[in-house]
Amino acid sequence: MSAVLDPQLSDLLCAMPKAELHIHIEGSLEPELIFAMAQRNGLSLPYPDVAALRAAYAFSNLQSFLDIYYAGASVLITEQDFFDMAWAYFLRAKADNVIHAELFFDPQTHTERGIAFETVINGLRRACDRARSELRIRAELILCFLRHLSEDDALATLEQARPHIGKFIGVGLDSSELGHPPDKFSRVFAEARHLDLRAVAHAGEEGPPAYIWSALDVLKVERIDHGVQCLQDPRLVERLVRDRIPLTVCPLSNLKLCVFDSLAQHNIRAMLDAGLVATINSDDPAYFGGYINQNFVETFAALTMNASHARQLAANSIEASFASPAEKHSDHQRLAEFFSARGLH
Ligand code: HPA
Ligand code: ZN
Repeated sequence: MSAVLDPQLSDLLCAMPKAELHIHIEGSLEPELIFAMAQRNGLSLPYPDVAALRAAYAFSNLQSFLDIYYAGASVLITEQDFFDMAWAYFLRAKADNVIHAELFFDPQTHTERGIAFETVINGLRRACDRARSELRIRAELILCFLRHLSEDDALATLEQARPHIGKFIGVGLDSSELGHPPDKFSRVFAEARHLDLRAVAHAGEEGPPAYIWSALDVLKVERIDHGVQCLQDPRLVERLVRDRIPLTVCPLSNLKLCVFDSLAQHNIRAMLDAGLVATINSDDPAYFGGYINQNFVETFAALTMNASHARQLAANSIEASFASPAEKHSDHQRLAEFFSARGLH
């Protein structure tokens, strides 16, 4: 059963400026767009209509989701498809008062199907540039390696990306976590560091705290995606707090993939209480029942969180972003003005 949130707090959560740092752009592809793209690209889908596809979105764990997520992404063929997908996300993000977004994309999902790397990145980059000029959303791309594939495959992908280095700001690691520890990708992350790319990794979503340690110590990432399993290991929490390593948490994703049985059992409030730089994000909003504001509203209702948690989470999202120090300063100022205009100091 879902709890109801005080309308004033709900408005505050929705209206406050925020950064989104954990969104797989392929996970923003709504069923309607999947069907439209399948039609215009002459592809047939194993579902008769949008409702049947949506009905298949019942997951028991990460892998059960990934199978359907990769199938959905197979309708993306042209540069315009990648642009349209990202542009649809930016319009939703604007409605949720996102001021800065860092989008994950999975090139191997597409290059494996014969789509050129440049088709993918050029469509996405064009949408990012337009989001900046028309919507005033600062938008960047993070290239994720699929961890169920080999490190050699990841190295070949980084090689393909090399001529496009100015179009994305960093690398990440996603897909099936269990059985694919971060240290499998030590060489490709070292190579990315030499290219001055930023680095993040999914760790501790389903996997153990050891995977978070390895992402930090072997891959030398600056942020952990998910990381909710860190609370099992007090030494790890101490390290994450000490080094102010942000965690990009995605509550509705965790609920839909059965990481927690209910939102009331989610540990994001405990993470904030422990002093962790936790943030709230949407992960794959088309699949998990909501965009970033829905994640805020449902989580706050379930855990009876308040306006000071809201402010902390928004401030954390700015601190955790890869914006420049000057941009962060201006974002923090904007946040302070937002709260003081509402009599919250
Ligand atoms: N975890 C791992 N890989 C993913 C996810 C996720 O939540 N979403 C898209 N790829
Ligand atoms: Zn993710």
